[in-house]
Amino acid sequence: MSNISSFLPILSALHQNGKIIITHIESRKSRTEKEQHQLFMQLVCPHRAFDNVCSAAEQSPLIRELTVLEEKEPEKKDHWFPRHISDLDKCTHLITRFEPDLDYDHPGFADKNYRLRRKEIADIAFEYKHGQEIPRVEYTDEENATWGHVYSKLKELFPTHACKEHIQVFNFLEEECGFSADKIPQLEDVSNFLKRKTGFQLRPVAGLLTARDFLASLAFRTFQCTQYVRHGGKPDHSPEPDCIHELLGHVPMLADPKFAQFAQELGLATLGVSDEDIEKFATLFWFTVEFGLCKEQGELRAYGAGMLSSYGELRNSLSDEVTVKPFDPPTTAVQEYKDDDYQPILFVVESFDDMMIKMRQYVASIERDFDVRYDPYTQSIKILDHNTALDCVAQGLQNDVDTLLHVMNRFNKPV
Ligand SMILES: [Fe+2]
Repeated sequence: MSNISSFLPILSALHQNGKIIITHIESRKSRTEKEQHQLFMQLVCPHRAFDNVCSAAEQSPLIRELTVLEEKEPEKKDHWFPRHISDLDKCTHLITRFEPDLDYDHPGFADKNYRLRRKEIADIAFEYKHGQEIPRVEYTDEENATWGHVYSKLKELFPTHACKEHIQVFNFLEEECGFSADKIPQLEDVSNFLKRKTGFQLRPVAGLLTARDFLASLAFRTFQCTQYVRHGGKPDHSPEPDCIHELLGHVPMLADPKFAQFAQELGLATLGVSDEDIEKFATLFWFTVEFGLCKEQGELRAYGAGMLSSYGELRNSLSDEVTVKPFDPPTTAVQEYKDDDYQPILFVVESFDDMMIKMRQYVASIERDFDVRYDPYTQSIKILDHNTALDCVAQGLQNDVDTLLHVMNRFNKPV
């Protein structure tokens, strides 16, 4: 370079290509050619931007020589994830949002007794370890009354607003699991019910978890479930998840085999992905598991727990107030949403099969160096790469084919 102005083509190219960080820059006079300058720079940037900067420098008549000393791939950040169901003991990172101690709008903010009671119940979750029975809570008359109020109002709406899967399981919950308006069911009993239906289980959680921890639990067919109850002064609304939301909204859906499969696959898809993808999966969770609509004989029905556990939200979801869009994971994943008011936008799936197919296509497009499979016998995650995937999948297929042939032979049906 003949003088300092020779830097301009490089600086201009850096400016035009955005997303470039200069980590080091220095210049000095050339030792061999006194009129020339040498410029040394270290950059962190995408490959394409780097190529643009190099070609701008090469094309400049002011720059005599360009030497690329070293190109390094950026180090990939590994995101830890649980490999065995007992590792969920480490997935307890809470988000301190909507808690009554911190949120002025929480109905329990000004009620010291409520906050103490909530803490007393939430502490059970802090002590809990995988494999233990979920400790029972002696709910007060006021807490049971809050539950009964919500339960009775929602039960009136379910026949016309809830999807058929929710209605069917809700009947089972009343017949087999003691669900009634009289008292709040115990998580341990509900967890055992779920295990029998779909293999899902509950574990107590002290509040709102990070999306990464919460979604990872689903990979193990485990649902992180709050145990405390919303404030009795506002029974129709809770700014944070509470056991009424979990038991009336989530539990019936997790007892449906297709929905349980969907929830687990969503969880498996999140293991080890980037923070950016976690955010997208959390949004997909929001618009399906929390606020999803489906079609039944041409009519809309709710399957999202956020609606199935809130009288106002459930009514709103099937009203003209809502814009309903077809579920399309790439666009749904980046849809902004509110978590402190009724949902103005919802997404509808044609069926749970349709939802599963679209989600699998989306998951296949997500960048990850490996794939995962859940082994229900060891309750652990198997990492699949090109060496192990074929063996693992082929073995499972062989067992299924053998079983099918055996059944066909027994009943003399041609295969
Ligand atoms: Fe929820």
